[in-house]
Amino acid sequence: MEIPKILGGEPVRKKPFPSWPIFDEKERELLLKVLESGRWGVGGKLQEEFENKFAEFQDAKYALLCSSGTTALKIALKAMGISPGDEVIVPSYTFIGTATAVLDLNANIVYADICPETYTIDVENLKNKITEKTKVVIPVHFAGRPADMDAVKEFAEQHNLMVLEDAAQAHGAEWRNRRVGALGDAGAFSFQSSKNITAGEGGAVTTDDDEIASIAWSLRNVGRPRGGPWYEHRLFGWNYRITEWQAAILLAQLERAPKLMEKRDSSARYLDKLLGEVDGVEPLKSDPRITRHAYHLYVFRYDPSQFNGLDKELFIQSLREEGIPCNSGYRPLYSYTFLPKSKPLPNTEKAAYIEAIWIPQPVLLAEKEDLEDVIIAIKKIKKYSKKIKEECKTFSAR
Ligand SMILES: Cc1ncc(COP(=O)(O)O)c(C=O)c1O
Repeated sequence: MEIPKILGGEPVRKKPFPSWPIFDEKERELLLKVLESGRWGVGGKLQEEFENKFAEFQDAKYALLCSSGTTALKIALKAMGISPGDEVIVPSYTFIGTATAVLDLNANIVYADICPETYTIDVENLKNKITEKTKVVIPVHFAGRPADMDAVKEFAEQHNLMVLEDAAQAHGAEWRNRRVGALGDAGAFSFQSSKNITAGEGGAVTTDDDEIASIAWSLRNVGRPRGGPWYEHRLFGWNYRITEWQAAILLAQLERAPKLMEKRDSSARYLDKLLGEVDGVEPLKSDPRITRHAYHLYVFRYDPSQFNGLDKELFIQSLREEGIPCNSGYRPLYSYTFLPKSKPLPNTEKAAYIEAIWIPQPVLLAEKEDLEDVIIAIKKIKKYSKKIKEECKTFSAR
């Protein structure tokens, strides 16, 4: 086997994996339609068309477009009645926006640890953290993998909480044959540039609840009532609208999504199988209740003890040098100085600092032989792990 690139050898790959985003004539055609319509924002028809199609795609009654996944979370929380001093449960292993949306409303965060084998919220040890101020729990469908919605909903019912799904990464994901987004009281999606359906930026609130939908509509429209006069503002809202340009792109992206979902799914299954060939790298645990994983990320668990103690950051650096895109992922939320503190939560610590390796979704759009390079690179690094540990300096791969 050749020497790893990090030790001066040749990399496994010299050609890149597929790039993202993908677009074709459909995007071009719709963008031109917007240009020529003269309706580039309010009054355009494509936003509503996308909202209807996306709601149907996610098995929700409503979808409401807004400026980002973070603002979708914020709008949804406020529409669900969150006010200053209320408490919202969020996993400590998630994107920072899950937390800042809560804090922006002057509500407080209660951190939940994640399950060690799935990296999604673990509501088990939260029982003594619930107070009369706790109002909402936010399960995050991390990497496109639905959180355990049976456990979350049971817990929410027991404690009289509402459920807001952070589905920012989970377009098309399914729990027990129903798509995420309106499994709880509301959901929040992101269309930011890395996402599996993207317009560069954008977000959506999904819900089956008429009242939440109506308030959310108004909140993103500076508090205007739907169908009311322009200068009528009944709520304290924001301008979190998007443009027709974004809606045009989203419509084209949504049409392409099912085909890409199939591709990511079969690639992820192939990678799961390939990882089985090497001790010390392992896919997250499968769950038959997840009838569709959206695979915004392909995440696997790395065990440094099987690689002569080579730490996660150096393992990632070595893999990258072989031409395999990957990164280290989230830090625990409580490690940010400006977010609420917590004692370290063990499974979050382990995922963040020891074992979680993230591969971005465009890799899953590659062909089988390209995916095989991932495992060839891992095997090569494993073989030389002792030498890499001795000779190379750790860096940060976040
Ligand atoms: C889990 C999660 N929540 C929320 C967000 C926020 O979405 P946006 O970046 O569109 O504000 C993201 C996006 O990265 C995310 O991954």
